[in-house]
Amino acid sequence: MLPTPVYLNGQYLPLDEAKISVLDRGFLFGDGVYEVIPVYNQHFFHLHDHFLRLENSLALIKLPSPHSLSQWQKILTPLLSDTPNQYIYLQITRGVAKKRDHAFPSPTIAPTIFAMTSPISLFEGKENGVKVISLDDSRWELCNIKATTLLANILLRQQAVEQNCAEAILVKDGKITEGAASNVFAVINDILTTPPQSHEILPGITRKIILDIAQKNQIAVAERTISLAELKSASEIWLTSSTREILPVVELDSATVTTGKPGPVWQKMNQLFQDYKRSVS
Ligand code: PDD
Repeated sequence: MLPTPVYLNGQYLPLDEAKISVLDRGFLFGDGVYEVIPVYNQHFFHLHDHFLRLENSLALIKLPSPHSLSQWQKILTPLLSDTPNQYIYLQITRGVAKKRDHAFPSPTIAPTIFAMTSPISLFEGKENGVKVISLDDSRWELCNIKATTLLANILLRQQAVEQNCAEAILVKDGKITEGAASNVFAVINDILTTPPQSHEILPGITRKIILDIAQKNQIAVAERTISLAELKSASEIWLTSSTREILPVVELDSATVTTGKPGPVWQKMNQLFQDYKRSVS
């Protein structure tokens, strides 16, 4: 089986032939945005939502949107392999300027557009749940942009890994924001609770799907601030993302969450989520 190509600026190439200039603003400044789009059984999962978030990220960094939804679909389809669970990584940077200068190049240059697929291993950590630590949210004020500038997220996630944890849950002024690469849900007094959308978190697509599923299935939900103390007494904690779906947390800061096993609300939501996925892919 031939490895699937990657996409770079209008061309489909083997991964090791895809090259960018050292003057690319993505390389020099992290001046770009990205998306991670799951593909199940060769069907894009919520492509429209990922497209809308991409458009929003592009608008917030003042980069003109290069393609329509149908153009993206045409560009991305040849990248798909026959793996049942995969994701597309799509990145757009402000392009290659003639010299290194923080200000936007003038006149405007063509953006660099790169996309590739990778397999997703969806079951990692699901059966037994994962351990997490809480850390101070040291990121910037524009966390609603899905920016490639991820140094703070990387340093936070690495601290978690070094403590044998799957994720860092981030805390700002005593309140939970999100994970270093995920959104956070908690079951508090039988209500599925998650921090509200704001510039402090990424508007996660998985988060949105879970809120929709909960509403359709009479599961009580609340979008409100959660303090770290409240999270510590929650009966369940979950992390959500496109590559990890809904991951139950069984240990927070070395303390066991309830029984130390994935909880009943997670069991129910995970089943509903898998049913929903099957119904659309
Ligand atoms: N990250 N918050 C942050 C900071 C994230 O990086 C992610 C996902 C999420 C969840 O968003 P979604 O449900 O749309 O995947 C929340 C991706 C998977 C990544 O960077 O690889």
